[in-house]
Amino acid sequence: MRVLSGIQPTGNLHLGNYLGAIRQWVAMQDAMGADDQCLFFLADLHALTVAIDPADLAASTIEMAATLLAAGIDPARAILFNQSRVSAHAELCWILQGTARMGWLNRMTQWKDKAGKNREGASVGLFTYPVLQAADVLAYQATHVPVGEDQKQHLELARDIATKFNTDFAVELFPLPEPLVSAEAPRIMSLRDGTAKMSKSDPSDMSRINLIDDDDLIVQKIRKAKTDPEPLPATMAELEARAEARNLVTIYAALSGEAPAEVLARFAGQGFGAFKPALAELAVATLGPIRDRLTRLLDDRAEVGRQLAEGAARAHALAAPTLRAAKQAVGLQIG
Ligand code: ADP
Ligand code: TRP
Repeated sequence: MRVLSGIQPTGNLHLGNYLGAIRQWVAMQDAMGADDQCLFFLADLHALTVAIDPADLAASTIEMAATLLAAGIDPARAILFNQSRVSAHAELCWILQGTARMGWLNRMTQWKDKAGKNREGASVGLFTYPVLQAADVLAYQATHVPVGEDQKQHLELARDIATKFNTDFAVELFPLPEPLVSAEAPRIMSLRDGTAKMSKSDPSDMSRINLIDDDDLIVQKIRKAKTDPEPLPATMAELEARAEARNLVTIYAALSGEAPAEVLARFAGQGFGAFKPALAELAVATLGPIRDRLTRLLDDRAEVGRQLAEGAARAHALAAPTLRAAKQAVGLQIG
């Protein structure tokens, strides 16, 4: 198995990112066998497809890398790097732009959503974003790609590109990557509105728990989380119409590693006056150590940079033979 995934370095990570994505990465890394390989990267080239502040991008890349390390990504077992430092991504992307079709990219829902009505004003990079993503995956001949539901379409495209390239140039170079959409990954909702996803773009900081938040802030955010006056029921089905209550139970279960039904079995009949302090205590116990590691790492950003450089060197070595074979397949002179 060769597992690869990326995340855009767009600022502070929150509980939704942790429970919905990063924790799955750590679990995959921990489950790897001796012949398997895990690669995780900060997609800093993808970040250039929308307006960015260069200083912010540089800082976010280091901060997100530090967060991944703090959350348990271990450079001894997984390769962690930033995309732009491994030139194979951009080089293979250009080659694959000869293979990808306008019609395929035109159908991408992320392109349609992000460009909105202003397609003429969107960057070319936003349109070809999925080709770079395909290059990310195919450069390492990755077999499994842990992603959220919304990225499945991009993986499908990577498979189409791989198939067409293999056929057009009569090679068996790119294996078809499988998306891994974890059934266990919960969708965490805003603490202020149980129908909206917890997101870094929510203007209210009280809507999310950031992985950098201190203990008091975590407790305060949970205490102020929107709820209702009813006691907790005995089954999740009875929480169907109570989005905020359901979200807090989902968070508790994800943090404790239990099924939501087990959590309810313990708290049924109790109100939020009892449930919230228990959730706050659990959140502090689980997230506190991650935050403490993160704070230490942020005190030595140069060291995080060195770790990324080391990861990039290993990633480069893994991608080099594939890039070389792709160049050879299309007839580029490689000396
Ligand atoms: P945001 O919505 O905060 O901008 P991103 O879109 O950058 O987050 O997502 C990064 C990763 O975290 C993706 O894999 C995404 O599926 C996951 N993720 C983001 N928000 C949540 C959430 N509220 N619950 C579960 N997973 C989430
Ligand atoms: N597009 C992905 C996202 O927004 C991030 C990403 C970039 C990625 N390259 C990738 C994910 C390669 C998996 C594999 O979440």
